[in-house]
Amino acid sequence: MSDYANCWLNARICLCGNLEGRGKWLTDLDSNQDKGLQRALCYRYTIGQCAAKVALCRPTGKEIFAAPSRAPCYPASVTASAQYRLVRLANGVHSLHSVTECETFHPVIGPAAEAEALYVRQLRLRERLAAYAGEFVIWDVGLGAAANALTALRATRDLNCALRIISFDHTNEPLRFAIEYAEALGYLQGYEAPARELAESGRVTFADGAQKTEWELRLGDFPTLLASSVAEVLPKPHAIFFDPFSPPKNPAMWTLPLFTRLFQLLAPDQPCALPTYSRSTLLRATLLLAGFHVGAGHATGEKEETTIAANTPSLIEEPLGRRWLERARRSHSAEPLHTAHYCQAPLSPKSWEQLQQHPQFR
Ligand SMILES: C[S@@+](CC[C@H](N)C(=O)[O-])C[C@H]1O[C@@H](n2cnc3c(N)ncnc32)[C@H](O)[C@@H]1O
Repeated sequence: MSDYANCWLNARICLCGNLEGRGKWLTDLDSNQDKGLQRALCYRYTIGQCAAKVALCRPTGKEIFAAPSRAPCYPASVTASAQYRLVRLANGVHSLHSVTECETFHPVIGPAAEAEALYVRQLRLRERLAAYAGEFVIWDVGLGAAANALTALRATRDLNCALRIISFDHTNEPLRFAIEYAEALGYLQGYEAPARELAESGRVTFADGAQKTEWELRLGDFPTLLASSVAEVLPKPHAIFFDPFSPPKNPAMWTLPLFTRLFQLLAPDQPCALPTYSRSTLLRATLLLAGFHVGAGHATGEKEETTIAANTPSLIEEPLGRRWLERARRSHSAEPLHTAHYCQAPLSPKSWEQLQQHPQFR
């Protein structure tokens, strides 16, 4: 078993040679586990380190690993800093890999393609922007290397529109790293100057034809910022790109108090949708209990299904129904995280009661 397996200690699942047929195990994993694990598997598969018939299996006693003694590294890395590596995916596209978190940003189809599928197309950004007369506000949670924000800008650059992007991150290091490798990453090309200004001064205003952009970076801990009174005076979002690291790695970004506060901060009369890459039952139950309407989100190439939440059912194409609710009731991992500590548990009686009362299921 490789270093990769060490990343997955939290999930207590291991890679093994295929015994069962990939579909079964991936489906199983998809509903209960999350991005870090899936990304690592998909990445390993993508770069050809394991045969097409890799399966995920539950560990036996011997297959439960000791705690990692060092951060695993991808051999396909083409260059590195202390904290980030530039990795080349099997399709030739480059992405960033966080050494400390052991997670690759957009690991399978690459940064721009994932951002296109998950945010631009799913949110129907072009159509919504074209039809909107005022300033369209995007909250970009987890700026990282800015692939989501820049892909949205590029996809709408021919429109006569005004965009305000508020990015949140507690570091601008990935952005600085990405600027250094803009040519290899591709999606930054043509946006090096505004990206540099954002990294340096935390704010940039620029025009691209008839597209006007105001972009600011709120540097700091997102849950702390959200809980503060500062969050109340931020421009209300029409769309939220929600892209932190996975819940086991980054539990503080996936708690019920965080999503409850996020929901309360939205303008009730302004439709807003929040897509995210996870499709876990835990996340979906959390979003519902926070007050959102929740549906199955588009496939991204990395995942056959993601999640979309909104403050109005009109932005949800495929709302979760009673079948999902019944599955959630049986799931061993559906209870929201109430604190920044990752744990998996079935729904509590209180959560189950509240879920059934949600307008989406009545
Ligand atoms: C997967 S990366 C985001 C990739 C990015 N959206 C892109 O397009 O390149 C996750 C980001 O979430 C940020 N993050 C994690 N925890 C955070 C926190 N508590 N507050 C603010 N940002 C956080 C990380 O610093 C990291 O840059």
